[in-house]
Amino acid sequence: MAQITHRPRRNRKNAAIRNAVQENWLTVNDLIFPMFLTEGKNKKSEINSMPGIYRLSTDLLLKEIESCMKLGLTTFCLFPSISDKLKDKKATEGLNRKGLYPSAIREIKKRFPEAVIMTDVAMDPYSSDGHDGFVKDGKILNDETLDILAKMAIVQAEAGADIIGPSDMMDGRVGIIRDSLDEEGFTDVSIMSYTAKYASGFYGPFRDALDSAPKFGDKKTYQMNPANTKEALLEADLDMNEGADFLMVKPALSYLDVIKSLNDNFNLPIAAYNVSGEYAMVKAAAQKKWIDGDKVRDEILLSIKRAGASVILTYFAKEVAQSLKK
Ligand code: PBG
Repeated sequence: MAQITHRPRRNRKNAAIRNAVQENWLTVNDLIFPMFLTEGKNKKSEINSMPGIYRLSTDLLLKEIESCMKLGLTTFCLFPSISDKLKDKKATEGLNRKGLYPSAIREIKKRFPEAVIMTDVAMDPYSSDGHDGFVKDGKILNDETLDILAKMAIVQAEAGADIIGPSDMMDGRVGIIRDSLDEEGFTDVSIMSYTAKYASGFYGPFRDALDSAPKFGDKKTYQMNPANTKEALLEADLDMNEGADFLMVKPALSYLDVIKSLNDNFNLPIAAYNVSGEYAMVKAAAQKKWIDGDKVRDEILLSIKRAGASVILTYFAKEVAQSLKK
């Protein structure tokens, strides 16, 4: 017999022991479900590059939220799909209190006061330039954008948003949004900052969903360079000092090291956004039967938790909730 005193396999010998020593679990409490909202009634259109994910009109969105809540999901992040004719340079529609987005938020909070609603603050869904900030002479202007973002956040908070999610990457936005919320009496409204948001190829399907791709250039003067981590620490430092309640890393899968690094260095909960392209890759390969989609999905989400995220925004939220229920 071999003289082996340490046999790690002993802790893997059956399911009960494996479960007892399992360090990370995926639960419905970890998940935020991003959803796409569209105009009209009884409207449901599937996003080509995101099988199983739809743009829903408010009435159908309410039904979908109800069915998700029955599965134990509590938190929903909404993105509006705005028709081209409402888009302009200043994202005016984003400040319209009677617009699609605030109206839907109001209805959801009326029907389901206990549902937690996270909103998106950035100009791109409403911008004729398809950029997250205000564009002048081909440049994305930082400080001119901040004023618009702060107003957008107030419109959303008035509608009933519980968590404001600035996804724009302008400098100073968390601070100005926090100040504006507080001045208007919304001291209880949280901010989940898109702290380390990289200029990523993984956002493609999302831009299809909202028809929000930049009309010129790219987002590299505001979103981060995928090669860098120090910048993520700098952004996290700023966001924490400006009053963020959660620090988010986005995308998730290619940035597990960044998630870990923020979790090791900051005493705020870390969120990770498992983005549209990450979802699309798994679905596409699974449709071809090249991978087992459910297994790969769970492995990816668990890896994001293992890296240190306590909250995961994922288009898989509902199917994970369904599979956990079984
Ligand atoms: C833009 C925004 C993007 C996503 C969320 N908010 C895309 C972008 O920066 O162009 C991407 C989410 C996803 O890919 O799932 N403010």
